Formats: sequence, structure tokens, C-alpha cells
Amino acid sequence: MSILLWVLVGTVLVLAALRVRSLVSPRAFPPWMTPMLETPLRNRERIVLRAGVRPNERILEIGPGAGWLSEALLGKLGADGQLTCLDIQIEMLRKVRARLGERTPWLVCSSGSCLPFREGTFDRAFLQHVLGEIPDKKGAVVELARVIRADGELAVGEGLPDPDYIRAPVLRELVMEAGFELGERLGSWWEYTHRFRRP
Ligand SMILES: C[S@@+](CC[C@H](N)C(=O)[O-])C[C@H]1O[C@@H](n2cnc3c(N)ncnc32)[C@H](O)[C@@H]1O
Repeated sequence: MSILLWVLVGTVLVLAALRVRSLVSPRAFPPWMTPMLETPLRNRERIVLRAGVRPNERILEIGPGAGWLSEALLGKLGADGQLTCLDIQIEMLRKVRARLGERTPWLVCSSGSCLPFREGTFDRAFLQHVLGEIPDKKGAVVELARVIRADGELAVGEGLPDPDYIRAPVLRELVMEAGFELGERLGSWWEYTHRFRRP
């Protein structure tokens, strides 16, 4: 068998093992691996465009990693917008601060299923490659429904080969059960963003 085929088989086996581990016990992405998230294979501009950010919004980004997308979100928000990044790993928030310096948004270390904010604090929440890593996904979307204002939006992005990838129909059921209405569906089945409206 050629080396290429061995590499391919090895990659598929590793991804399958990670998928099984994620289903049995989801865990947070390791901070040392964040450079992998900044590959040119990911179109940062497109991901952020799909989130539907408008100038001057109050945005909650859960799971910013090292802040690669946060940086682009800030660019869309304008001077009067406000970004809050929440992550369960303090090391990720340190990376956000190191990247953004004086432009660092509000940083909050907490679980995505326990949001330390009042009802209706945000106009929009954004989760890219995050929900699958949260053990209590139902709790997380119920919390999101609480902290997003009426008529605000939730944007969730998922994509392969993330071992924590959530299929679109599963995501829709989960989020709509928490009281959201389905809005725009963007992308393809293997990499998509769904937007939901909070009635
Ligand atoms: C795969 S990274 C995605 C980073 C970034 N959103 C991106 O797409 O480039 C997942 C992020 O979610 C965070 N995370 C995982 N579980 C979490 C939880 N229960 N609550 C809050 N954040 C969590 C991780 O620490 C990490 O920053």
C-alpha cells in the first residue's frame, strides 16, 4: 500500500476514535492546538458574515479559542458595539487577550451551560465549533434563550471534520425545543451556520 493510503487510513481512524470519545464524554479543545483552527482552509470572513453581526450590537461569543474569529467580529461591530467572550478555559481567554491587546473584549471564564448574565443582555450570541464540546447542550441553549433579548439572534456554526460536529437536524431540534425560531440556514450539510430568532 502506498504511503498516501496509509496516511489516509490513519487519519480516518484517528477521527473516528475522536468522534467516539466525543460522544461518550465531550471535552474542551486543548489550547495548544488552537493554531490548527487558523488554517487557510477555514474562511474566517465567511464564517463571521454568516453570523449576521450588525454594527453596534451587544454580542456574546461562547468558546472563542484564541480569538481568531473574535478579531473579525470586532471589525464588524463598530465603535459602539460590545463583544463579550466566554470560555470555560482561562488559557483560551489569555490567548484572546494576547492577540487583541487594547481591543480585548469583555472576558468571562464560565461554562457555556451556566451564563452569568441577566435576562436579555445580548442582541446576538455566536458559537462556532463549540456546542458539541459542551456536555450539557440542552442547558446551554436554555441559558442562551434567557440571555438573548426578545427578537435577538443565535448563530451556531458547525463543520466537519470536527469530531464534536452536530448534524443540522439535531441542532435544529435542540435549539427550537428551547423556544427559538429557525431563521437563515447557510452553507452545506458538512459546514453550515444556522441562525435562530428568539421570539
Ligand atoms: C474548537 S474550539 C473553537 C474556537 C473558535 N470558536 C473557532 O471556531 O475557531 C472550542 C472552544 O470552546 C470552548 N469550550 C469547550 N467547552 C466549553 C464549555 N463547556 N463552555 C464554554 N466554552 C467551552 C473551548 O475552550 C474552545 O475555546
